[in-house]
Amino acid sequence: MPAERIRVEGVIKLFGERAHEGLDLLRKGAGKDAIRERSGAVLGLDNVSFTVEEGEILVVMGLSGSGKSTMLRCLNRLVEPTAGSIRVDGVEVTTLGSKALREFRRQTFGMVFQHFALFPNRTIAENVEYGLEVQGVAPAERRRRALESIELVGLRGWDAKLPSQLSGGMQQRAGLARALCVDADILLMDEAFSALDPLIRREMQDELVSLQRNLRKTVVFVSHDLDEAIHLGGRIVLMRDGAIVQAGSAEEILLAPADDYVRRFAEHIDVSSVLTLGRLVDETPPLLPESLHAEDAWPLVETRAPDEVLVVTCDRHMPVGRVSRDRLGAPGARGRRLDALMDGGIARARSTDVLRTVLPLLAREPLGIAVVDEHNRFLGLLTRERVLHALARTRPGDGEWNGSTPAPGAFPSSHSTRSATTVSTGLPLTFPA
Ligand SMILES: Nc1ncnc2c1ncn2[C@@H]1O[C@H](COP(=O)(O)OP(=O)(O)OP(=O)(O)O)[C@@H](O)[C@H]1O
Ligand SMILES: [Mg+2]
Repeated sequence: MPAERIRVEGVIKLFGERAHEGLDLLRKGAGKDAIRERSGAVLGLDNVSFTVEEGEILVVMGLSGSGKSTMLRCLNRLVEPTAGSIRVDGVEVTTLGSKALREFRRQTFGMVFQHFALFPNRTIAENVEYGLEVQGVAPAERRRRALESIELVGLRGWDAKLPSQLSGGMQQRAGLARALCVDADILLMDEAFSALDPLIRREMQDELVSLQRNLRKTVVFVSHDLDEAIHLGGRIVLMRDGAIVQAGSAEEILLAPADDYVRRFAEHIDVSSVLTLGRLVDETPPLLPESLHAEDAWPLVETRAPDEVLVVTCDRHMPVGRVSRDRLGAPGARGRRLDALMDGGIARARSTDVLRTVLPLLAREPLGIAVVDEHNRFLGLLTRERVLHALARTRPGDGEWNGSTPAPGAFPSSHSTRSATTVSTGLPLTFPA
């Protein structure tokens, strides 16, 4: 299990000279506006708690003014929290004296800002090595390390140029190199890519992810863009008015947004590229064991099964194929095992695959796709109905949308006691012992 690097608990920030009056008001239940009216203090953070694990990218999101930068800056006390606890590697940051704080900042954090904050009259190498210069590292050593970082971010050969000779994207790479150069292993990044063109931005996101993996950095990344958060992967903390409204994976946020504020962030997102099959799968689909004989299977499917039923191994661990009602009900079926009557195999996909990659396959597979884990063990069935609900952002059974399609009347009429409109793939067909 990855180690916890940062633990933020109950952090409150009030800006203004009468912050402590504001704190009293907040503790008595006053809201942001009332606090400002009565004490002049601005509520920047309202009881924020979260943790960051070793080697993860945590994305702090929210609209402008929601408190993202304030939160990030509290971590290294560029902004002083008014109350609450911040522990980094077990050290309580809020009580460090000024000398210890400086040392701690230097050793622990690298920061990257939206506007690259490069010195215009220093070369890229001189900018990148600045942190080491401040630390008193010898010139040759700091240049060596600067060139290493410059190479890491893909700026090899640009070290002797001035920032003005580089494009915005390249300047941001230099900003990243500067943060990497000091060897601090927690990166704090505030809208670091927001000023970049979309394509360059995407490139930088990819690069950050690969750097973070290779260098085992822990990253806290502020963004107002859910698409960026999804691309960076990892967990998301969503803020509004200084408080956290929801925390979780992109999938969790898309599948169950806490409220309309969160939903608005998710509106333009292509859910099929985020949702993984494991989240969408029907874990209790109708299924039959392969060793069953047709005449024993028939009563189970006769009145209330879909047109095709999944066939699995007797231990339920592996999907084997599918059998149609037509076949089961056909005159020659009696006495035969299901594995001899199957209409074909069943398509499989991994639970960790994202939905988008299996959509073409699903289009060809009316019954659905058997979803398996990394050991090929059966987890459940991904049906078209489930997928359509996910894409429409409704839940099966919501009533907003009815996914069941009436089956054509191809079934032998003597057996046809079911009503087509009651057919649902979600019915609990029991597995005979
Ligand atoms: N130095 C300050 N003095 C007074 N109020 C401040 C100060 N810094 C931030 N605030 C207030 O705290 C709240 C949170 O601001 P913050 O800058 O953290 O938001 P943000 O989410 O980073 O926004 P943006 O996306 O625009 O960067 C806002 O209401 C802001 O006005
Ligand atoms: Mg900000």
